[in-house]
Amino acid sequence: MNLLVCGGAGFIGSNFIRYMLGKYSDYKIVNYDKLTYAGNLENLKDVENNPNYTFVQGDIVDLEHLGKVIKEHGITHVINFAAETHVDRSIHGGCKDFVLTNTLGVQMILDAVRNNSLQKFVNVSTDEVYGSLELDEPERFTENTPIEPNMPYAAAKAGGDLMCRAYFATHKVPVVVTHCSNNYGPYQFPEKLIPFFIFKLLKGEKVPVYGDGLNVRDWIHVVDHARALDLLLHKGIPGEVYNIGVDNERNNLEITKMILRLMNLGEDRIEYITDRPGHDRRYAIDASKITALGWTPEYTKEKFEQGLKETIDWYLGNQPWVENLWQKKKDEMNKFQNDLQRSQEKMQSAT
Ligand SMILES: NC(=O)c1ccc[n+]([C@@H]2O[C@H](COP(=O)([O-])OP(=O)(O)OC[C@H]3O[C@@H](n4cnc5c(N)ncnc54)[C@H](O)[C@@H]3O)[C@@H](O)[C@H]2O)c1
Repeated sequence: MNLLVCGGAGFIGSNFIRYMLGKYSDYKIVNYDKLTYAGNLENLKDVENNPNYTFVQGDIVDLEHLGKVIKEHGITHVINFAAETHVDRSIHGGCKDFVLTNTLGVQMILDAVRNNSLQKFVNVSTDEVYGSLELDEPERFTENTPIEPNMPYAAAKAGGDLMCRAYFATHKVPVVVTHCSNNYGPYQFPEKLIPFFIFKLLKGEKVPVYGDGLNVRDWIHVVDHARALDLLLHKGIPGEVYNIGVDNERNNLEITKMILRLMNLGEDRIEYITDRPGHDRRYAIDASKITALGWTPEYTKEKFEQGLKETIDWYLGNQPWVENLWQKKKDEMNKFQNDLQRSQEKMQSAT
């Protein structure tokens, strides 16, 4: 397999590349990434000299460049992680880039796959496209749940997914779409909940919990996600959608308290803040379709605390990774934090 990994310098993409290079000694991997603020080649420092790995800086919206890279490297398969991924940015910072990358960018990859008659394209998407479930109801998202995104990020991702559906129906492009739940693990950009909280706590600050903290997410270890994607690259049926999750529903307060306990800190470090507008109440995944295909996650619900502890230990043991990231992205991070604070103050005074 000569695999083009779009967006491989981010959190999940870099974990996926490391997993694939470790498992297959005869696969070639080309990491095609624009290196937005969220892209970080430090995530792949340990594999950058692997002869099976190449990095190319590029934008998925640029069809001509995509086509050139596919031809130059004899690409046979594509997997796409490239996306604008931060929900709060899509709410408080404008969402044009979300639509460009998450919808138009996916369409460009579909054209590139079609133009070059590639064997398979896996488009990595999210459970957020399904909208929200109620607390205390038995229902979970299946692949037949209607697409009802509530946030600009999720709507832009849904746009890309629907393009995949249409390109399969119209042009028979061999595409598989995945809807995965919230990931945790090493190398996550520290604006996302778990690393964000760890670094705030390390700096002696309080951690902000939205609303009543009872919003539920279904947490999966990033390496289990990588395993599922590996399976789908090989065995996923073109035109099909697969949900990925490990039946590990936890509310934000529970996660926060677990992090505090694992870091030997008290609950006085929690600060409740105004809820996120359009904040979905609950996501829960029914993963029976991919399980039937042969996927068995290692970090089950019972092993979540162990996975979280390993994740915290990884961040604590990799301070230089954090410091370098912080230095390089300081302006970007500060600007976003200021935008977010201003937006939250505005919401506070309006209520
Ligand atoms: N993180 C989660 O919990 C989660 C859960 C389910 C699904 N997903 C999906 O998985 C994918 C990866 O998520 P992540 O958390 O690793 O994201 P991330 O923000 O850490 O990484 C995104 C990567 O995409 C690159 N990128 C952005 N725009 C690009 C463009 N136009 N062209 C090329 N590269 C571009 C960035 O430089 C970065 O390296 C996304 O599609 C996301 O929707 C994430």
